[in-house]
Amino acid sequence: MKTIRTIEEMRDELKKVIGQSVGYVPTMGYLHEGHLSLVKRARKENDVVVMSIFVNPLQFGPNEDFERYPRDEARDKRLAEQHGVDLLFIPTVDVMYPNEMGIEMKVTKGTDVLCGRSRPGHFDGVATVLTKFFHIIQPDRAYFGLKDAQQFAVVNTLVSHFNFPIQLVGLPTVREEDGLAKSSRNVYLSEEERKEAKTLYEALKLGQKMVMDGEKDVDLIVQKVKTYITEHMNATIDYVEMLSYPELNEIKRVDEQVILAVAIYYKNARLIDNIILSPDGKQVETIIR
Ligand code: PAF
Repeated sequence: MKTIRTIEEMRDELKKVIGQSVGYVPTMGYLHEGHLSLVKRARKENDVVVMSIFVNPLQFGPNEDFERYPRDEARDKRLAEQHGVDLLFIPTVDVMYPNEMGIEMKVTKGTDVLCGRSRPGHFDGVATVLTKFFHIIQPDRAYFGLKDAQQFAVVNTLVSHFNFPIQLVGLPTVREEDGLAKSSRNVYLSEEERKEAKTLYEALKLGQKMVMDGEKDVDLIVQKVKTYITEHMNATIDYVEMLSYPELNEIKRVDEQVILAVAIYYKNARLIDNIILSPDGKQVETIIR
């Protein structure tokens, strides 16, 4: 595995593999099994696997955790190499944004709901950095975890509206044994919070069971999920929403593929989770676009 820190070096390396398929796994580092499952899939489907590690300041709000976002480059390098990454791209902020950005990307679809509503500008930052990475790396396929399902929907819009010739592969959320979705931010949880955090997945499963049992009324499902969270967690609910997926439109009834998504705040952490369901309640775990 080669570690690369500049755009020029990345381009030189990619020239050496022209004609071979390139799979790309974008990350912000502090790798966990979720990221590694993306690498494993990329390894199976491509000749060359590129991973980027970049904590992108543009996608963090002023009161968010950019400074304290967990970082451990040595461990990340070891894990990336063990799992078969060929080129590990770790640019600095100066490499990615050498000058003040004189141009802005604004995501206008699918951002007035879920995390887009609570984190204004977040998806603009994600779209900007991914546009840059897609141009630099020019992958054939890019791999994302569906834990960030709204991000996957936004990237889908980006790739289709800006004509990137990239196949998007959205892969299942990897979970701890008790159901908590793996996330680099789980290190922010206190012991007590970590214990009750499994409630989020239980609440989503409760919603799924209602759909499987034939419930179609979105308000009723959302209400039950909210009540379950309130009764089992000492957290503040940011949102519980059920929307069409990947369009992210508001719906009244479960008549199409939907996302049931939750976000809660603890003192030092914000947790998100979701499940994507077909109209009969079956979970959709992998999406290829
Ligand atoms: O999902 C993430 O880790 C980030 O949003 C991404 C896709 C690497 C862009 O910075």
